[in-house]
Amino acid sequence: MKNIVWLVHLMLPYWRRIILALILSVLTISSHIGLMVASAYLLARAALHPPILDLMITIVGVRFFGLSRAVFRYLERYVAHDVTFRVLSQIRVKLYQAIEPLAPARLKNFRSGDMLSRIVADVETQQNLFLRVFAPPFVALLILFGYGLFLACYDVRFSLILAACFLVAGLGIPWGIKALGQGIGHRIVNLKAELATQVADSLLGITELVAYGQAQEHLDKIRQTNINLMDQQRRIARLSALSASLVGMVSNLGLWLVLILGIYLVEKGNLNGVNLGMLALGTFSSFEALFPLALVPHHLEQNQAAAERLLELIKAKPVTKDSGHLSPQSEGLDIVFQDVSFRYEQHEPWALKHLSFRIPQQGKVAIIGSSGAGKTSIINLLLRFWEYDAGRVELGGHSLREYSQEDIRGSIGVVTQRTHLFNATIKENLQIAKPEATEEEIIRAAQQARLHDFILSLPQGYDSLVGEGGFALSGGQRQRLAIARVLLKNAPILVLDEAMAGLDSLTEREVMNEVYQLMEGHLTLVITHRLIGLEKMDEILVLDRGRIVERGTHEGLLEQRGLYQRMREYLS
Ligand code: GTP
Ligand code: MG
Repeated sequence: MKNIVWLVHLMLPYWRRIILALILSVLTISSHIGLMVASAYLLARAALHPPILDLMITIVGVRFFGLSRAVFRYLERYVAHDVTFRVLSQIRVKLYQAIEPLAPARLKNFRSGDMLSRIVADVETQQNLFLRVFAPPFVALLILFGYGLFLACYDVRFSLILAACFLVAGLGIPWGIKALGQGIGHRIVNLKAELATQVADSLLGITELVAYGQAQEHLDKIRQTNINLMDQQRRIARLSALSASLVGMVSNLGLWLVLILGIYLVEKGNLNGVNLGMLALGTFSSFEALFPLALVPHHLEQNQAAAERLLELIKAKPVTKDSGHLSPQSEGLDIVFQDVSFRYEQHEPWALKHLSFRIPQQGKVAIIGSSGAGKTSIINLLLRFWEYDAGRVELGGHSLREYSQEDIRGSIGVVTQRTHLFNATIKENLQIAKPEATEEEIIRAAQQARLHDFILSLPQGYDSLVGEGGFALSGGQRQRLAIARVLLKNAPILVLDEAMAGLDSLTEREVMNEVYQLMEGHLTLVITHRLIGLEKMDEILVLDRGRIVERGTHEGLLEQRGLYQRMREYLS
């Protein structure tokens, strides 16, 4: 129920359009009733051969209702869909605003296909909310009231028949259909999500699936989910057909009852025979308002299930909060970690334990250590992707928490271990680091990253597409593109996490030289498994299981004859 309240809340700003849509909907059905009433009356009157002038008004009525029905139907569709799409776009904006701060920490809890299904399918499901859930009962009530009054002018028993039919077809049948189809709405929403997850998963991992001969198995799983989904949809189609025929039966029954009562009244002289056909056909056409009611509970259930999934995203709390509004200055930035401890989840072992170090303004620090030692975790804290549990992290003399996250990220140029390239051109992929970069700047960055010659060798040069996730490039080329991005961004703080991974020794040396030049005047944090070029660092931290086990300059560490020295010996 809470979910629906949230949706209603989103619809409230459009209450004027909503009322207009409801009025238009009532007018459409009223025109239909009017057309039937006027035509039946015209036929009955004409049979008595009155002077043609007596029929003029009715003839005009038939023409009017015939045309107005089409016009009102068009306008009603137009306004109702307009409202619906406005609400959908609001939901999309709210969803995006909620998702952005969740990245990346909280989003790890959602699978990408599931996420896609929430953003696309669950939002789209909400288009039924006004059209198929809220509007039909209102319209039916108004028609019952209006046409009931019209019937009461002839005999109140006609109105009672109408009310009884509306009660059965508007409440009884939907209730029965709801009981028969309990849970289908939920299942459809969940199966759609599951299907999207399976398809997205297998598309992302298609190379592995083919290489390990698992493609067929995955396909079978997807097929099975699809069959389950179709089963549920078939059940809904059956229920929909059943409800339509039941409402049809009630309409016919209503028509007969009105006719029988009418004949009785005509015989008794209490009703003019000319009105008989009109009352019966009018009643029959008023049932048009009842047909959409049967599936209201089903749509409501589906809307609720989808809204629940949307709210799960919207209500999810980001791990880090944007509390501060400070902006890092470009001058005087130093980074201080003071007794910082951090773990990803409550029950997991500490990723970082009592970590303390300082990188002075324009200082250069390297962090080395075995895989899983916690090196990338330091960057995750620095970029405010995760929240540290204890200790203090300072940037330029202020706690990281006092800054706006966006500004912190703006002042850090980072090459991560997993570079994502967008399915766009090389130039566009570089421009995400600096959208306003000029052609010269882009070329300069590519040259520094030793990528320029390769790009020129491509038929379309900088406008070549890199493919989904950059699959048209080699691992090393992707890495160099990431380095070019950082060179282009030219932020005051430089963070390189295994930036040279995948580069051959010669290129690595060349690119490193360029990067070292860039490092001049920048605060730099380098994480590397390859222990080359570390002589230039002010300090090297050797990390092991979240703790700093050795620290010092290259020479100092060699003299200590500890882990660093052993690692170097092993590598050489
Ligand atoms: P390499 O990149 O392999 O050299 O390791 P690293 O030193 O960068 O390790 P990292 O900081 O990524 O990980 C430290 C520990 O945290 C490891 O035990 C990981 O299993 C764990 N860890 C890393 N990322 C996550 C995460 O997103 N969620 C959870 N729950 N644990 C994580
Ligand atoms: Mg790492």
